[in-house]
Amino acid sequence: MKARAAVLFEVGQKLEIRDVEVQSPQAGEVLIRMAAGGVCHSDLHVMTGHLVATLPAILGHEGSGVVEAVGPGVTSVRPGDHVIPLWRLSCGECEYCTGGRPALCPAGTQIRMTGRLLDGSSRFKLNGQEIKHFAGVSSFSEYTVVPEKSALKIPNDLPLDRAALLGCAVITGVGAAINAAQVKPGSSVVVFGTGGVGLNVVQGAAIAGAEKIVAVDLLDSKLEYARQFGATHTVNASKGNPVEQVRGLTGGRGVDYAFEVIGHPATMRQAYDCLAKRGMAVIVGVTPMTMEVSVPVMSLVFEERVLTGSVYGSSRPRLDILKLIDLYRAGKLKLDELLTRSYPFEQINEAYAALERGEVARSVVTF
Ligand code: APR
Ligand code: ZN
Ligand code: ZN
Repeated sequence: MKARAAVLFEVGQKLEIRDVEVQSPQAGEVLIRMAAGGVCHSDLHVMTGHLVATLPAILGHEGSGVVEAVGPGVTSVRPGDHVIPLWRLSCGECEYCTGGRPALCPAGTQIRMTGRLLDGSSRFKLNGQEIKHFAGVSSFSEYTVVPEKSALKIPNDLPLDRAALLGCAVITGVGAAINAAQVKPGSSVVVFGTGGVGLNVVQGAAIAGAEKIVAVDLLDSKLEYARQFGATHTVNASKGNPVEQVRGLTGGRGVDYAFEVIGHPATMRQAYDCLAKRGMAVIVGVTPMTMEVSVPVMSLVFEERVLTGSVYGSSRPRLDILKLIDLYRAGKLKLDELLTRSYPFEQINEAYAALERGEVARSVVTF
């Protein structure tokens, strides 16, 4: 079948909307008619070359849709089911999957690096040329094909535009606070970068019962959002040294948890420098492969600080996303407030320009 899809041909270019050929789902695969695709900074990182992907590819890794057809052997979903495609495929059997860290599964890395499904081929073609799957999802397409293990069935009465955000921004941010850092009640937290993902770190810390939550951003509009999501203090990093300001807010002690949700070594170091003794810095932002960050060794030893990272919210998405839906329904998770703009699919480049200008908390394109 044909589908309109947003293809990135080369780094540095804009997305081009083309009519691609989508092959039917093979054994163990699911064809999804997409409803919404989330506009996440990671796709922008791919467009700028900051994050490597095999091209040409249909981008998009956050989204939601309705199962259109299933390949042989698929049992967990059927046509008509609403699903979120998960951008870290997990096999369910390896040491990481069985150990509760499915985002570290080698199968997810394989799909991510090759841009092809598990049998080593792609379901997308344009004029006979192979088009790659991005992160095994490719949500910026009217139709996409994913492995059954990446298709998470969700309740059919959840609005699909909001559900889309659960697939990356929410699980990544909330999970970084709850699963990776395991933020404790009464603790202090700083979040560097309160965009779509960072706002979810803020609300994850609030859900976990943190007492002091400091949001750091360059834009006052983002800091306003952060207050809405549970920040108790805000620091505009363009107005003076953010580390001094954050430490000042804790009487010089520093914070228990610091998160970097931007993707720059400089802000990663700033987050680390905000820590109290035994504090933990969690890196969520991504950088080019060759980037490094350095920290003073003696702060690791004599202050027992911890520097770590978190992928996909260190989550078990099949459990955690359903829990997040319960929290949303109980009025404890902000999804409606997160979705600040919705664009028709055709305006996807405009949606990315608005993300770059910092105009939105999170936006989606709809089909
Ligand atoms: N200091 C503080 N805040 C900054 C700085 C800085 N030096 N530079 C950028 N920011 C802020 C931006 O103003 C914006 O609010 O960081 C935020 C980034 O948010 P988004 O552009 O919405 O990006 P998001 O989708 O949240 O992704 C953030 O997480 O998953 C990764 O790949 C993703 O590296 C990216 C990061
Ligand atoms: Zn993302
Ligand atoms: Zn596995």
